[in-house]
Amino acid sequence: MSIHTDKKRKITVKTISNMKGKEKIVMITAYDALFANLFESQVDMILVGDSLNMSFLGKNDTLSSTMDQMIYHTKAVCNGAKTPLIVFDMPFGSYNTKEEALKNAIRVYKETDADAIKIEGGKDRAEIVRHLTKNGIAVISHIGLMPQFVRGEGGYIVRGKTKEDEEELLKDAKILEEAGAFIVLLEGIKKDVSKKITQSLKVPTIGIGAGEGCDGQVLVWSDMFGFFEEFKPKFVKRYLDGARLIRESLQEYVNEVKSGKFPTDEYSY
Ligand code: KIV
Repeated sequence: MSIHTDKKRKITVKTISNMKGKEKIVMITAYDALFANLFESQVDMILVGDSLNMSFLGKNDTLSSTMDQMIYHTKAVCNGAKTPLIVFDMPFGSYNTKEEALKNAIRVYKETDADAIKIEGGKDRAEIVRHLTKNGIAVISHIGLMPQFVRGEGGYIVRGKTKEDEEELLKDAKILEEAGAFIVLLEGIKKDVSKKITQSLKVPTIGIGAGEGCDGQVLVWSDMFGFFEEFKPKFVKRYLDGARLIRESLQEYVNEVKSGKFPTDEYSY
């Protein structure tokens, strides 16, 4: 049973907020209209994640992602999907000050149909979150393992392993909620800690590598469908062996063209 019985109705920030404690929230990434359209009738939210810099641009991390690049992909996703709540992932360096964050977020709202933006960072970003939300921008805060901090931290490090870190994360989440974030996204956090954070907040949490205690879940589509083979962290469940299926079908095409089996009359004018 779904809280939004008519899946054709646009999912809003209010719809998502009302789902806490009633129905799990399902989010997936998408970077283009084709896949956004495939996903749109089944998911609640689509994240145009800066993970596209790795899976689609072939970079080692997300840091070189730009506003122009993210806007281009978000326009495509918004063309393909009308009903899910669409989230724009603010790229590294685009929200270092509250003025810059607001200028860039306004650009997102003016140039795309995205409904919300996501920014990485804990309590240090609270003033930025407050400034954005006061000015009409819907914000998702992303804490825990933050891919945009990977170079500074020397790797992707799971969080919440000590009591001090647990307290730090709980404090981050509470302060960001108080600053106006309508979702706190929890990445790479020990599951008991995510559960405590989720229970302590009024706003929903969305987890990735954060266990089952969150209010919802997000996965990167190319990971979960097995297309981005180099990347296989513990938290990714593969729902499809996509790369193998593509390779096998491609080989069939290659064989048929080479052998003259394709195109037959059926595929000719
Ligand atoms: O960029 C992205 O896809 C993300 C998710 C991993 C949450 O930020």
